[in-house]
Amino acid sequence: MQAVKVIFVLSLTLAVAFGRKPLGAPKPLEGDDLAKAKDLLTNTLTKLAAGDGPKYEVVNVSSATSQLVAGSLYKFEVELSNGSDNKECTVKIWDRPWLLEKGESTNIKIQCKDEAEIDTTW
Ligand SMILES: *[C@@H]1O[C@H](CO)[C@@H](O)[C@H](O)[C@H]1NC(C)=O
Ligand SMILES: *[C@@H]1O[C@H](CO)[C@@H](O)[C@H](O)[C@H]1NC(C)=O
Repeated sequence: MQAVKVIFVLSLTLAVAFGRKPLGAPKPLEGDDLAKAKDLLTNTLTKLAAGDGPKYEVVNVSSATSQLVAGSLYKFEVELSNGSDNKECTVKIWDRPWLLEKGESTNIKIQCKDEAEIDTTW
């Protein structure tokens, strides 16, 4: 009886551990997916600039990944320009289309070297 219990608990633990796996690892983007992610990055930065700012333009994308969490989390290593200076930055965009009506469908975080993180949601 005890053995059965142990196996039950064990398999439950495994189910929990492996059930989460699809929400796990960031996936490097290439081809079409990369092109779409770059579009999202450009469009999101444009919206940010049109709102409270700051105004950044993409100079170069050195890496891009996406990860399934509740929604899609995109992470870019990029060179951004604020109009006068180029900076190495990490940009994270969390896309949750179903929160559009609540005004929370897009969260963007920009962390540039030696600067405070920008964290904006709309
Ligand atoms: C863009 O980044 C890639 C990867 O870091 C690099 O190989 C390439 O030279 C860069 N291009 C420009 C225009 O800076
Ligand atoms: C761009 O960033 C640099 C360095 O942080 C800053 O000195 C400059 O004023 C910024 N330019 C604009 C147009 O925001």
